[in-house]
Amino acid sequence: MNKEQWGSRVGLVFAMAGNAVGLGNFLRFPVQAIQNGGGAFIIPYLVSFLLMGIPLLLVEWSIGRFGGAFGHHATPFQFYRMDKRTIWKYIGVFGLFTNIAVAAYYCYLESWTITWVFHSVARTFQHMSSGEIATFFDSYVNLDSQAIPILVWILCLLLNTFILSQGLDGGVEKVAKIGMPLLILFGIFLAIKAFLIRSGEEGAINDGSVGMNFLWTPDFSSIWSAKVWLAAAGQIFFTLSLGMGSIHCYASYVAKNDDVALNGMSAGWMNEFVEVVLGSSIIIPISVGYLGIDQVIELTKQGGLGLGFKTLPFLFEQWGPIMASFAGVFWFGLLFFAGITSSLAMGTPVMGFFMDEFNWKRKSSAWFFGLLIFVFGLPTVLFYRYGVFDEYDYWAGTVALVTLALFEIILFAWVFGMDKGWEEIKRGSDIRLPIIYRYIIKFVTPVFLLVIFIGSLPGIWEKIINKDIHAKLDAATDPLIIDELNKTLFFVDGSRILLVLLYVGICFIVYKAYRKNYAK
Ligand code: PHE
Repeated sequence: MNKEQWGSRVGLVFAMAGNAVGLGNFLRFPVQAIQNGGGAFIIPYLVSFLLMGIPLLLVEWSIGRFGGAFGHHATPFQFYRMDKRTIWKYIGVFGLFTNIAVAAYYCYLESWTITWVFHSVARTFQHMSSGEIATFFDSYVNLDSQAIPILVWILCLLLNTFILSQGLDGGVEKVAKIGMPLLILFGIFLAIKAFLIRSGEEGAINDGSVGMNFLWTPDFSSIWSAKVWLAAAGQIFFTLSLGMGSIHCYASYVAKNDDVALNGMSAGWMNEFVEVVLGSSIIIPISVGYLGIDQVIELTKQGGLGLGFKTLPFLFEQWGPIMASFAGVFWFGLLFFAGITSSLAMGTPVMGFFMDEFNWKRKSSAWFFGLLIFVFGLPTVLFYRYGVFDEYDYWAGTVALVTLALFEIILFAWVFGMDKGWEEIKRGSDIRLPIIYRYIIKFVTPVFLLVIFIGSLPGIWEKIINKDIHAKLDAATDPLIIDELNKTLFFVDGSRILLVLLYVGICFIVYKAYRKNYAK
């Protein structure tokens, strides 16, 4: 049996925080906030954190520790231990599926940060105009220069695989203990620099505080906007790594009577600190300082990643060559650490599953995960321009998370039962949780999730019928654009088929494992 354990409590909390703190905190959060009206976004965001984020953290940590006591480190058989009915292990398949599918595109993004650290040191952006940097980025991700992006991506996969093969305390925990403090240090440096931006100095048109005010002046107009609520709840999911199966896995290496409540809260709040304090004080104040709110809103409409990879490198150059190099290394270094501590977390449930159910060795499981990410990641790399990357992000990084969470809270609070559930959460706890959370978990969170789920159905349907692309096709007259859009349709549908095959494939393996190990 797989008997790994965390080296120390500090290590566990850092690893768990590293799992949650990711590219989402620094790239996704600011863009969501900008697109959803700044101050209007924050209220739904904080409410979602309290009513959905915290309850789900407690639930996922408890399920993980509970399943871990039976030697299960992935959700299919963790769920099976909570209720033996067939449906649960196949719902649990999401906890493997999502990790593979998200890692498949996430590692590509992670690999860009390595290249951008290099260019910050090499001073590549020094004499480029903002348009040139934008073109540089587009031709990189669209593979106009072919070899380098693919090589760096493979290097990044190898690095992940190697660290994973070193085990929990020897690999994951070590990286988290080095990476997290560095990330916070880099973040604080950049946040201070952003805070000190003065209108009229170094080409800035606004004080650093203008962007911050945009975000932090509460605006209650959004309370009735379904779109803003969906975006806020979606961000809470993504940033806390909820509904993925990765928290379940990390928590399954905690001993049976060790605390989950305080650990879970520590890691969750640490993530919120990094997101709400650091994540909001870099991209937004800097870009608003130089470009103004309206232009920044415009920029995010063309896709959120541009702000981090095109706009910031250009703006850093306004600070002079030395400062620009430091800022670039710190910013992309921070993104790299944020990314790798998260992608490692996506590997562990997959490895755990094969080690538990098929007695694989750690090294072979790590390499197998690397191979999976390569195979499923390849389309996101090769056909990035045709929207494969975004398609993975939508289905795996958004829809699947809510789906798993909705089922698991029903399993936990209603099937397993809240009496037993609450005991699980409390056992070994080093803090006293307010009793109100018992009722929130039983009633409020499931209803909240159900509303979110139902509220997203129209959007999901529009996505399925490719409404956007067809609208563009109807409007297009240029044959080149029409050709491009038709290709996009082809690749978008193709990536959906691939994802379905992945899901079905894992179901089959879970079935095999069940027949082999549990069916009598
Ligand atoms: N929470 C990570 C982020 O903010 C993403 C992630 C999701 C990591 C799932 C691990 C598992 O980027």
